[in-house]
Amino acid sequence: MDVKRRMNDRFKDLEGGLFSAVTKADVGEGVGNFLAAGGANMAWADPFYPDPSVPESAKKAMMEALESGTVSHYVMPIGDLALRKALAEKISRRTGLPIDPSRNVIVSPGSDSGLLFSMMPFIEEGDEIMIPDPSYPSNFLNAKLLGAKAVPVPLYEEDGYQPRMEEFEKRLTPKTKMVLISHPNNPTTTVFRKEKLEELAAFIVKNDLILVSDQAFEDHIYDGIEFAAPCTLPGMWERTLTVCSISKGLGLSGFRIGYIYADDHIMDVLYGAAVNVLGASNTLASIGAVAAVRDEAFLKSNYERLLRRRDLAYEILSEIPGVTMKPSESGILSWLNVSALGTSAEVADYIRDHANIMVNQGTPYGAQGEGHIRIVTACFANDEEAAGRFRDIKRALTELAKEKGIC
Ligand SMILES: Cc1ncc(COP(=O)(O)O)c(C=O)c1O
Repeated sequence: MDVKRRMNDRFKDLEGGLFSAVTKADVGEGVGNFLAAGGANMAWADPFYPDPSVPESAKKAMMEALESGTVSHYVMPIGDLALRKALAEKISRRTGLPIDPSRNVIVSPGSDSGLLFSMMPFIEEGDEIMIPDPSYPSNFLNAKLLGAKAVPVPLYEEDGYQPRMEEFEKRLTPKTKMVLISHPNNPTTTVFRKEKLEELAAFIVKNDLILVSDQAFEDHIYDGIEFAAPCTLPGMWERTLTVCSISKGLGLSGFRIGYIYADDHIMDVLYGAAVNVLGASNTLASIGAVAAVRDEAFLKSNYERLLRRRDLAYEILSEIPGVTMKPSESGILSWLNVSALGTSAEVADYIRDHANIMVNQGTPYGAQGEGHIRIVTACFANDEEAAGRFRDIKRALTELAKEKGIC
C-alpha cells in the first residue's frame, strides 16, 4: 500500500532516513553510523559533546530525588513550579520584566517542541511566516508542518547579518501573520542589535504581526555586545512568544528542558493545551534543572570555557587559506565562508572524508547559507582535543586550497 497517499501535504514529503539517504547531519542513523566508524561529530549544537557536563549541584539534587523515589511521578503539565520559579527569576533579572511563574512561563520538553507549540495558536492554513535566512532549519519546517508558508528574508554577510527592513517590507502580504527570528542567530551567531530590533518591532506592531523569538543561544554573548530581548521593546510584550532552552547555555541538552515566556493572555491558551501538546517534561530532569539554573558559578564557568573556545577556534580556523570568518558574537558555533573552496556540500563532504569530522553544510539554514559551513566549536570538554580537531580541519582544507590553486 502506498501509505503516503493517505498523508497530508504538510508531512508526506518528509524523509527521515528510512528509504532514502539522509543529507542533514542530525537526523536518522547517518550520525550513528559515522560515529560508530570512529568519526567525530562537530555538527550538533551541544556544548562539550560527547563529554560529561552535568554540574555537581544538579547531580546532587537528582541523586537525592532518585533515592527518595518520588521521581516516578508526573510534574505539572505546564512545568514543575520550582523550575518555573527559578526560570521566572532568571528572565526577570535579564529583562527587567515582572514574570509571574504561574502566568507567564511554561516548561517544554526541549525548546524544539516549544517552538512548534508557540506557533500553533496563531497559524492558520495559508498564513505566511517571515523567517530571516539563514536561520535554524526547524523554524522553516515548522511553518510547513502547520500548513503555513515560510517566507525567507535574506540577511547579508556584508551587513554582519543584521536585518534590512526593506527586505521585510517588500515581502509583506495580507497573509503575513508572524515573524520568527533566531536571536542570537543560529548559524551565524549574530546578535541582532537593539536599534535593528527596534525597527523590526515597529514593523511588527504596525502590521499587527506576532513575533516568535527563538533565544536558545541567549546565555553567552561575547565582547560586551548588548543583548536586547525583543519582548521588552515598545508594543511587543503582548505579541511576542520567547522560546528558550537549557541545552546550549547550561550544556544540558540531554535534560530536554526548554521554556516559553509570554503575556498571560497568550500563556493562558498554551496552559490550556499543555497536556495535549507537551504532555509534561521529565521529572528528574526538572529537579536537576532547578539546581543548574540557580547555579551562578556553573553558568560563569561555562561562559569562561566557551569564550576561551571561541577564541581558540577563531585563531586556528581563520588562518585556513580560502576561508573567511569573524569571531563569533555568541554561543558555541563558528560560521565560515568557504565559497573560495567549493560549495557548502563539497567542503563539508571534504572535511568528512579527509578529517573524519562531521560539520554542517550551510544550505539547510537557507539559501544564504550556500558557500558556508557551520562548525560546533564547543564540542569536547578538553580544549586540546578541540584544538586538535580544528587543526585537522585546517590541514584538510589547506590541502583542498592547494588543489584549487589558492595557495
Ligand atoms: C536556534 C535553536 N533553537 C532551538 C533549538 C532546540 O534546542 P532544544 O530542543 O535542545 O532546547 C536548537 C537546537 O539546536 C537551536 O539551534
